Amino acid sequence: MQIILLGKPGAGKGTQAQRLAQAAGVAHIATGDMFRAAVREGTELGKLAQSYMERGALVPDDVTIGLMRERLAQPDAHKGFVLDGFPRNEAQAQALEALLSDLGRPVQAAVELDVPDEEILRRITGRRVCPRCGATYHVEFQPPKVPGICDRCGHALIQRDDDKEETVRRRLEVYRRHAEELIRFYQARGLYHRLSGLGSEADVLERLIGLLQSLGVWNR
Ligand code: AP5
Repeated sequence: MQIILLGKPGAGKGTQAQRLAQAAGVAHIATGDMFRAAVREGTELGKLAQSYMERGALVPDDVTIGLMRERLAQPDAHKGFVLDGFPRNEAQAQALEALLSDLGRPVQAAVELDVPDEEILRRITGRRVCPRCGATYHVEFQPPKVPGICDRCGHALIQRDDDKEETVRRRLEVYRRHAEELIRFYQARGLYHRLSGLGSEADVLERLIGLLQSLGVWNR
């Protein structure tokens, strides 16, 4: 299975991609998570990425595409993948198409999770993440068992630096600027699908799996 999840910041891409990838036994590949890991490790890539992420801007395409090329070459990606946060514009979509054609594993579906802005702000302001293992929570909708502590690894949870309201608005603007070209790109290839991202996390997952089954892409 090779699919892409598209959607605004906070639409639930990470939450669903993680569950879907686990259920299907494929890799969850999230450029945002890869950049945050590089920031934590203090690498050159991390320093560069941080200067864009803290402004809610996109990291330059050549850097992001290079990172994705390396990631897709890793063995776990050969079984299939759910891409989350990539591609984000037409140049990235074109580069991905070329990369996957070299690997002989084309994208089978690009699904946009559709969530209105008011709900996006509620989701993002309540989001808490684990800086050690990357698990995502929400103070109201998906709280950890012990407040402020990761269920999976026991580390203290934090709020992402780019989850301040002003930066979120900027990220939404950036998303809107590129959404149309990205949607057109996948529509032209008959791969684009829009799905409501509202309802509980379990509801959205069920809807997503239903769509993938109807497309013949879900092979579990
Ligand atoms: P990235 O990490 O990709 O951020 P994003 O696209 O803005 O998406 P988010 O991670 O904010 O949201 P999500 O849709 O994954 O939602 P989540 O599941 O967490 O990118 C960050 C930055 O990195 C970018 O701004 C850019 O600078 C850089 N970058 C990354 N990729 C790049 C690229 N390709 N090119 C250039 N630059 C790039 O859910 C949100 C919250 O809602 C959580 O708390 C969750 O628990 C909760 N929630 C989820 N589903 C539900 C539900 N159904 N009901 C209630 N709550 C829910």
